[in-house]
Amino acid sequence: MKRIMFLTLSVMVVFSLVYAGDFSYIGVAKCKMCHKGTAKGEVFEKWEKSPHAKAFATLKAKGEEKNPKCLECHVTGFNAGGYKVGDPTAASFEAVQCESCHGPGSAYKSMSVMKDKKQSMANGLIEPDEAVCKKCHNPKSPTYKAFNFKEAVKKIDHTYTKK
Ligand code: HEC
Ligand code: HEC
Ligand code: HEC
Ligand code: HEC
Repeated sequence: MKRIMFLTLSVMVVFSLVYAGDFSYIGVAKCKMCHKGTAKGEVFEKWEKSPHAKAFATLKAKGEEKNPKCLECHVTGFNAGGYKVGDPTAASFEAVQCESCHGPGSAYKSMSVMKDKKQSMANGLIEPDEAVCKKCHNPKSPTYKAFNFKEAVKKIDHTYTKK
């Protein structure tokens, strides 16, 4: 009896762990709905002007837009529920979008969750640190340039709240 209880519990624990990680990518068009315009700090507009928004166009210009060895760092959620070559939704995940840094947004995207930072974080929102950037800014990049986190964050700054 005890053993069965233990097994059931273990299965439940494993299930909840897997489930907790089950956030999916929704694409920048969804984030844009609430994060554009002057009242909202023009977060979307700032991203759109940043090099990250052009990362897919960069591959296209080189004729490498189907090469998995490049896509890995030039699109969002590559083969992880975001960008997938030939998938009908692929276009929504081109380039390095919000969710590449802030985490997949399926669970934190609703207004009631987003308004509450604690809840957002519990639902997958990430405050990106250096390690997040270095998933792509590393020597595996054929054009790798030394990466200085502080300077790089300034270059892509889209903060609007006073801290
Ligand atoms: C339904 C509206 C809505 C959607 C959709 C939405 N957000 Fe938000 N987000 C908010 C609101 C409201 C806040 C709280 C700050 C504010 O009011 O400016 C917020 C805050 C944030 C913060 C700051 C958290 C903090 O306090 O440090 C990040 C990062 C963020 N959103 C990222 C995203 C991303 C990425 C997406 C798309 C995957 C997204 N949001 C989609 C409404 C939204
Ligand atoms: C999913 C991969 C990915 C992640 C994560 C990522 N980047 Fe990038 N980043 C790129 C790519 C690809 C480019 C080149 C885009 C282009 O020119 O087409 C780039 C370009 C840049 C540039 C301009 C080029 C340069 O080196 O000066 C800056 C600055 C930058 N990223 C900062 C950051 C910071 C800061 C973070 C973390 C908070 C980050 N990136 C996270 C892929 C990524
Ligand atoms: C490990 C992640 C990663 C991989 C894999 C990757 N890139 Fe990039 N790419 C980046 C980052 C980050 C940048 C920004 C500059 C840098 O390398 O620091 C970038 C920038 C670029 C640029 C702009 C260079 C410039 O400075 O103007 C080109 C072109 C490019 N990548 C092409 C490719 C091609 C083609 C492939 C596949 C053969 C590829 N990348 C694979 C991460 C990657
Ligand atoms: C390359 C990584 C990266 C991408 C792409 C990115 N962000 Fe951020 N974002 C950051 C970092 C790093 C910070 C924290 C900056 C700081 O505190 O100086 C941040 C902060 C924020 C904040 C908080 C601003 C504040 O004033 O507190 C919001 C909201 C936000 N991002 C939303 C978005 C949205 C929406 C997108 C897409 C349109 C996006 N981000 C794309 C890295 C990224």
